[in-house]
Amino acid sequence: MTMTVSKRPLMIRACVLVVAVLGSGVFGVAADGWRGGRDDENNNDGFNFFPSLGSQVDFYKNACPAARGVIRLTVLSAIIRDRGLPAALLRLQFHDCFVRGCDASILLDSNQTHLAEKDGVGNALSVRGYEVIDAAKRAVERVCPNVVSCADIIALAARDAIVSIGGPSWKVVSGRRDGLISNAVETPSNLPPPFADYSFLVNIFSKKGLTQREMVILSGAHTIGITHCGLIQSRLYNSTGPNGVDPTLDSAYAAQLKLQCPFGAAMNEIPLDPFNKGDRFDSTYYTNVLNNKGIFTSDATLLTSPVGAAIVRAEAAGRREPFFTDFAAAMEKLINIETLQAPQGQIRQFCRFTN
Ligand code: HEM
Ligand SMILES: *[C@@H]1O[C@H](CO)[C@@H](O)[C@H](O)[C@H]1NC(C)=O
Ligand SMILES: *[C@@H]1O[C@H](CO)[C@@H](O)[C@H](O)[C@H]1NC(C)=O
Repeated sequence: MTMTVSKRPLMIRACVLVVAVLGSGVFGVAADGWRGGRDDENNNDGFNFFPSLGSQVDFYKNACPAARGVIRLTVLSAIIRDRGLPAALLRLQFHDCFVRGCDASILLDSNQTHLAEKDGVGNALSVRGYEVIDAAKRAVERVCPNVVSCADIIALAARDAIVSIGGPSWKVVSGRRDGLISNAVETPSNLPPPFADYSFLVNIFSKKGLTQREMVILSGAHTIGITHCGLIQSRLYNSTGPNGVDPTLDSAYAAQLKLQCPFGAAMNEIPLDPFNKGDRFDSTYYTNVLNNKGIFTSDATLLTSPVGAAIVRAEAAGRREPFFTDFAAAMEKLINIETLQAPQGQIRQFCRFTN
């Protein structure tokens, strides 16, 4: 009761702010301006489609012209309450697409006899943002039921979220369908672990049709968001350098990380890129890697390859470019991995359950 009463004014303020934001064209980032939805330019009703769908293009477009706006509004109002959400949604997108393609399989809940992807290694206690997707789905279902897939909502939400913090925009072609299957046992072989080395990363990305270069570019996502200390404990306490520190990790940075991550404090959260005040989306990830301040082995390892190191240096050269252009192009590939097209899959009514 008290909760409801005290929360309502906040909600109203959030909505007013969102409207102001949409009107003014700036969200939280000075000077960058609103760059969202550039892909809508040729398609100003806001829902575009796989060209190959031919005559179905108009049917879908007429079926839910409001979808993009409704999703964007939901996502922006959630980000006002939680500034960490853009990172969460970007990672949710990546992990959805790497297991059974971008089919929203990551959203399906486990039940008493079956463990779903979200409870698999790499996702459990780690991937967040599910509630925002649920909220966007509820909002979209109110304006046009059974039209917009959960897989499309993930793609639109992740893009809009990154744009809202001043990151690049990329084109989201709609029309993905939702998958029917989600198995926790499939996550370990499809998601890269933080201790992966260079050839492991090249290989796991190539299985998804992504190049070595795209792997290095997409790793730049680690310019935002957080990690749990447990995932770097072995680099800080049980490696081959002095005091058990990984010799490929800058020793002053390692000392700082040990203060934030005492031995055994596995669930402490620390920023992936602490040299980036306020979770700004920019190329500082690459500067960190160059300075031996990449947080995971999978980040540090980019320097071990001459090809990888050259890409890291090129991306570190400017704060926004070439990173923004390169990242957007790689995201356009990532979000179209193994998508389901009608009549495959379905449009889920609730993102956590198949119909
Ligand atoms: C190259 C292989 C990659 C590895 C080994 C890797 C591994 C990880 C790990 C271990 C975390 C911390 C999770 C936690 O502590 O709960 C993390 C966080 C994150 N990753 Fe990656 N990642 C990789 C690539 C990517 C890609 C391609 C993207 C997106 C395009 C991405 C986006 C993120 C984001 C945004 C976070 C922060 C999540 C949050 O704040 O909730 N990562 N990653
Ligand atoms: C649990 O999920 C699996 C896989 O989706 C399904 O086959 C099974 O019928 C579900 N069991 C229950 C008790 O709902
Ligand atoms: C440290 O690493 C060694 C060998 O890699 C392993 O046997 C040991 O269990 C590790 N200790 C901890 C505390 O992780």
